[in-house]
Amino acid sequence: MNFNKKTIRDIELKNKKVLLRADYNVPIKNGIITDDYRLRRSLPTIQYLLKEGAAVVILSHMGRPKGPNDHDLSLKPVAHRLGELLKKLVGFAHDCVGQEAEQAIKALKPGQILMLENLRFHPEEETNDREFAHDLASNVQIFVQDGFGVVHRAHASTDAITKYLPSVGGLLLQKEVETIEQVMKKPERPLVAIIGGAKIADKIEVLKTFVTKADVVAVGGAMANTFLLAKGVKIGKSVADKSEVPLAKDILHLVKAESAKRPFVFYLPQDGVVAHSLNKTTHTRIVDWSANIIAEIESYPKRPPHASSQVKDDELILDIGPFSGAFIAGTIQLANTVIWNGTMGVTETPALHGSIGPFSQGTELIVEAMLGQFGHRPFSLVGGGDTAGYVEQRKLTEAFDHVSTGGGASLELMIGKKLPGLEALQDK
Ligand code: 3PG
Repeated sequence: MNFNKKTIRDIELKNKKVLLRADYNVPIKNGIITDDYRLRRSLPTIQYLLKEGAAVVILSHMGRPKGPNDHDLSLKPVAHRLGELLKKLVGFAHDCVGQEAEQAIKALKPGQILMLENLRFHPEEETNDREFAHDLASNVQIFVQDGFGVVHRAHASTDAITKYLPSVGGLLLQKEVETIEQVMKKPERPLVAIIGGAKIADKIEVLKTFVTKADVVAVGGAMANTFLLAKGVKIGKSVADKSEVPLAKDILHLVKAESAKRPFVFYLPQDGVVAHSLNKTTHTRIVDWSANIIAEIESYPKRPPHASSQVKDDELILDIGPFSGAFIAGTIQLANTVIWNGTMGVTETPALHGSIGPFSQGTELIVEAMLGQFGHRPFSLVGGGDTAGYVEQRKLTEAFDHVSTGGGASLELMIGKKLPGLEALQDK
C-alpha cells in the first residue's frame, strides 16, 4: 500500500528548524517511564532529521491533565529518557509556547533537539485553536507529524498547525499507516482477528469490520462475557456490561448473515478460568459451558462427551480456558495473517511463581502461536494500547511483525475512518 502523503524524505531539511509532533503519551510511575516503546519507535525519524541537518523541536501530549500544574504529567522525564536512547542531549522548555520556548527554539542549532512541555497544559490544544497553533508554529519552518497514536484527534498540534507550516509525515507514521492499510485492504488469507478487551462499545465497529472481512473472529477478555450473557450463559459476577447485550446480539445477527454467505467462524470461548477474586493467590477452576453455546454455531469444534459445568453466582471468569486457548492457537496455525487486539484475560494479575500470571495463560498461548512456537508463523499485527503494553512488558515487541504504537488510532484506521491528523498533511 502506498503512503500518499509527503514525508520527510520528500523535502529539503538542511538548516531547517523542524517541529516534530510525536506521541510520547507513555506510562510513568514516580517519574520513571515504565514502557518506552513509543519513544524507541520514534527514533528513526529523529535520527533521519538530524542526519539531514535539521534542528528538531519536539511536541507531545501526556495524559489528560486537569490544568497547567499537573506535574505528574510533565514531559521532562520523557526528554531525559529520549536523550538516553539517542545518546544525545535533549533540551527541555517548561512550556510549549511563550518566552522560554521561543528563546530556546531561536538558539537551537542544526543537529540539536529541544522538547517542549505537555501540549495539553493548554486547553487550546484540544479545542484545535488556531491562535495557539499559530504560536506553536512561530520560529520553525516545517511541521512533521509522527505521532501516529494521536492522528485520530483533530487538535491544534495535529490539525490547525498544518495551516501555518508545510506539513509532512514522519517515518513511524508512514510505517504504521502502510502496514495497517495493507493488512486491512489486501490481507494474505486466511485472516484471523483476535479481539479482546472490556467493552464491546469501544470496539463495536472493529468487530463489525472483522465479521465482514476476516475468515475467523475469536473474542476473548471481558468482552466475551457480554456475548456469553447474550447467549444465556451464566457468568456469575464476571465483568460484563448488561447494557451492551443488545449490541452483542446485533453482532451475533451479523455473524449469522455472514456465515450464510461464506465459510466464516465467530468463536466465543467455550471454557474459562474462574475464581472468586483477581488475587494472585486465589483458588481457580476451569468451567466449561460449551453445551450452552455449541448447538447454535455449526462450525464450533465438537467436543468429546464431557460434563458441562456452570460459573457460580459468586465467581468471575478471568481468562479463557485451555480448550478455547487450544482452539484459537490451532486456528492461528492455519492463518497467514493474524490481527490481535485485546488480551484474553486479566493479565494485570501478577504471577505467584515465574513470570506468567494466573489469568494470562490464554493470552500467552495465543502469543506463542502467533510467534510460531507450534511450527507455523503467520504475519502478525498487534494493536496498540493495552495489547502493545502487554507485549512490551513480556519483552516480545520486536518478535511480532508489527506492534502498533496507536490504540484508538489503529482501531480507527482499521475500520477505514479518516484520521484528521493524517488528512491534514500535504499530498504527494
Ligand atoms: C493514546 O494513548 O491513545 C494517544 O496518546 C491518544 O491519547 P488520548 O486518547 O488521550 O487522546
